Amino acid sequence: MTVRFQFEYPERLRVAFIGAGNHSYRNVYPSFQYAPVDLVAVCDINIDRAKAYARAFGAAGAYDDHQEMLKTEQPDAVFIVTSYTPEGDVQATALAENCLRAGAHVWMEKPTAASIAQLDRLQMAADETGRIVMTGLKKIFTPAMEKVKTIISSPEFGTVSSISVRYPQPIPDPADRSDDVKMLSLLSHIFHPGAILTYLMGPVRRLSYEWEPRTGASVSSLLFESGAIGVLHLVAGISDSSPLERVEVIGTGAGQREGSRGGANIVVDNGVRVTYYRPGANRQQGYRRGGSYLVDDAVAPLSWEPEFSLGGLTNNSLFTLGYVPEVVHFCESVLAGKPPEKGTLADVRNILKLYELYRRLPAGESATIEAGN
Ligand SMILES: NC(=O)c1ccc[n+]([C@@H]2O[C@H](COP(=O)([O-])OP(=O)(O)OC[C@H]3O[C@@H](n4cnc5c(N)ncnc54)[C@H](O)[C@@H]3O)[C@@H](O)[C@H]2O)c1
Repeated sequence: MTVRFQFEYPERLRVAFIGAGNHSYRNVYPSFQYAPVDLVAVCDINIDRAKAYARAFGAAGAYDDHQEMLKTEQPDAVFIVTSYTPEGDVQATALAENCLRAGAHVWMEKPTAASIAQLDRLQMAADETGRIVMTGLKKIFTPAMEKVKTIISSPEFGTVSSISVRYPQPIPDPADRSDDVKMLSLLSHIFHPGAILTYLMGPVRRLSYEWEPRTGASVSSLLFESGAIGVLHLVAGISDSSPLERVEVIGTGAGQREGSRGGANIVVDNGVRVTYYRPGANRQQGYRRGGSYLVDDAVAPLSWEPEFSLGGLTNNSLFTLGYVPEVVHFCESVLAGKPPEKGTLADVRNILKLYELYRRLPAGESATIEAGN
């Protein structure tokens, strides 16, 4: 990705923003520095915050009523980063529909909706208006995860056979799973590992899990439609000093028989450290008589991690965490008049299917997920 500064883009979208909260201040408005965006107005029900954000991020208009903003400003696109109702509903879903009906494309934070029924309604509004809705699934826009996708799609990696994803998130007690408020944390965070699973592996066909009641930790066993298998380890209860995430994908390796030794695997630790263990090294040979663990250069592992000396953009969290790439992908899709490839409502549907399964499926039982709708 070659980065352009905002003012260098030859064409920019007229953008309005709903929500002047915490996350958007840290991560979304600042990403506009590197996107084809002309921020014209900010709306928050707290007008003082709307005014403060408008001033800080260069918008002329500030509103406390989004309908008034849409009518007055007629934006090309609206970014929505709002929160939850006291009943545990997602505020952004209805706001997004209002924006679509006003003729604007929508970028919204996860969670897109609290249920598949709500998602259906949003999809219908998008279809009827011919406007784009994209969700900020930041994990699949990180340079690390994009590299994994490229490598596992290469002929050298062979057929993807399995995946393991670790993410810290409790699943509530079974008695609380019909309580929308108590389920909010899972709804909000399942979008992160769920996006990774969907992006790298495609839809899940079958799922079962075991659940630990003291921490709410769980281990899910997954079978994907592709025939590959996976583990989702929701490591609730880890130390606050620990990195959150680890992802590992295993492939058969080029020229290997499926299931035989000598495949390939790629690991992402802590969201940024990528190690690709390439196919072709021969451990058996080294084990019997070899004197060194150092395999031939041609098949040696490759690894990447950011450096933290230079004040460039490659080690900047707006980039390493995927914020700028997700915003730019949305803007470029709208400007090109074509649907986004990632963060689509179809991606969101796959994630919400997992969420709804955890709501109703008892631990120890297995469920099959219908393909398509
Ligand atoms: N992807 C990520 O890394 C990440 C990180 C944190 C939060 N988030 C998501 O971002 C969203 C916001 O989280 P937050 O912690 O910043 O919340 P927040 O409560 O700090 O901000 C939400 C803002 O929206 C405003 N708002 C609510 N309804 C509105 C309406 N109808 N019109 C105008 N303004 C309205 C509120 O007044 C508030 O200022 C959530 O969906 C959360 O899941 C994503």
